[in-house]
Amino acid sequence: MNRTLVKDALVSTQALDAIFLQGWVRTRRDAKAFSFVELNDGSCLKGIQVIVDATLPDYAAVSRASTGASIAVHGKLVPSQGQGQKWEVVADKFEVLGEADATYPLQKKGHTLEFLREIAHLRPRSNLFGAVFRVRSRLAYAVHQFFQEKSFCYVHTPIITASDAEGAGDMFRVTTLDLAQPPKTEDGAIDSTQDFFGKKTFLTVSGQLEAEIFATALSNVYTFGPTFRAENSHTSRHASEFWMIEPEMAFCDLQADMALAEEFVKYLIRDAKQHCAADLEFFSKFVDKDLLARLDFVLERPFQRCSYTEAIEILIASGRSWEHPVAWGDNLQSEHERFLSEEHFKCPVTVYNYPRAIKAFYMRKNDGDAPERQTVAAMDLLVPGIGEIIGGSQREERLEVLREGMALHHLDEKSYWWYLDLRRYGTVPHAGFGLGFERMLMFVTGVANIRDVIPFARTPGTAEF
Ligand code: 4AD
Ligand code: MG
Repeated sequence: MNRTLVKDALVSTQALDAIFLQGWVRTRRDAKAFSFVELNDGSCLKGIQVIVDATLPDYAAVSRASTGASIAVHGKLVPSQGQGQKWEVVADKFEVLGEADATYPLQKKGHTLEFLREIAHLRPRSNLFGAVFRVRSRLAYAVHQFFQEKSFCYVHTPIITASDAEGAGDMFRVTTLDLAQPPKTEDGAIDSTQDFFGKKTFLTVSGQLEAEIFATALSNVYTFGPTFRAENSHTSRHASEFWMIEPEMAFCDLQADMALAEEFVKYLIRDAKQHCAADLEFFSKFVDKDLLARLDFVLERPFQRCSYTEAIEILIASGRSWEHPVAWGDNLQSEHERFLSEEHFKCPVTVYNYPRAIKAFYMRKNDGDAPERQTVAAMDLLVPGIGEIIGGSQREERLEVLREGMALHHLDEKSYWWYLDLRRYGTVPHAGFGLGFERMLMFVTGVANIRDVIPFARTPGTAEF
């Protein structure tokens, strides 16, 4: 007999004479004539109640069905006598597949998120993490749906790369050289020409530069894959390995880029509300009371936009004493980003036109700025509770201006020869952005730490599992 998932059994339109379920025991309660076993299989938040009659030949097995044990149940689906559920299962046959003794760490009581991180191999079996990872899966699907519906082409950009896309230098080195005895050049430096790829290679920080190659051929493309940053940030919003979605559009400017970013964020929220309603309700009950109201509010209101220069004026006019000083030319820090979205605009806000000196080399130089206030067509989408979830820009399509930008950032043109070629042959205005998938999940679930929305968090000092 085919297995039925709990999520399907719970919404059955009729009683069933025969049903087969498999899953794990959440709780068991023994009464005189029956045992009640809550079976959860991860297909949805809820479990289904299984009633095992003491007269059943298999009844002896029930005593081994402790919390965490895996079980298989054949029985009947009948209307539930109890409250809060429509259906329950009366067992005909009850089998314990794998026992779990009293050392099973997820006994039914509240655990701290910190403790659950230490048992990341078991935490998906908890209500919270089951919900988080179901939403994660659904939103990954929605990402593809959003772009595929718009005829964007999905491009797989490389994970191992020789180029530094953000020019920031926070990259993990990839090497097969013997670290104890690396080959050296005459001047004593490590000789990377003898390394696996014949040059220095790294884990990618972004698929953008390669996505630009494909955008200038297929027009609208996107990437969705893991990216890596070796920055030593110990915050609740930074991971060393995270997933990023990067659309790239040819014949596109910053305005259209910002519009797509806003539409994308709203689409994902709407999708989660529609397809993960029970899980979101759980988050709003146990993680963040304001979650559902906030998501509705975000969907209803148009996002705000403000230039970097206006943002600086707002921050100065606020009269706050900032931990990091605010002056034109400085990067916005988390406290500033959160003030703008949480307190000033009280909604998501896209800040655009940042100082050229603090942004990446590839961003398009705006015309008409005073030389000491040179800006680029960059944008960051900031949301309440998190700050930046999207960073993007219009790209510099003018060869000479791009070369000037590279010189400004001390980049070697030789390693970017192919990137420059895109400007030599059929160059077009183009733009794109990157959405941090985990930050989006934090926003949609209300879960406050990035370590709790990725199955196995990679952060400085941590790479268990
Ligand atoms: O702003 P970032 O660095 O932009 C880029 O990488 C561009 N190449 C994107 C593009 O234009 N195609 O990163 C984009 C987003 C951030 O807004 C943030 O949401 C997320 O990626 N992000 C991180 N998420 C988790 N941990 C980190 N260490 C992150 N660094 C960036
Ligand atoms: Mg950024």
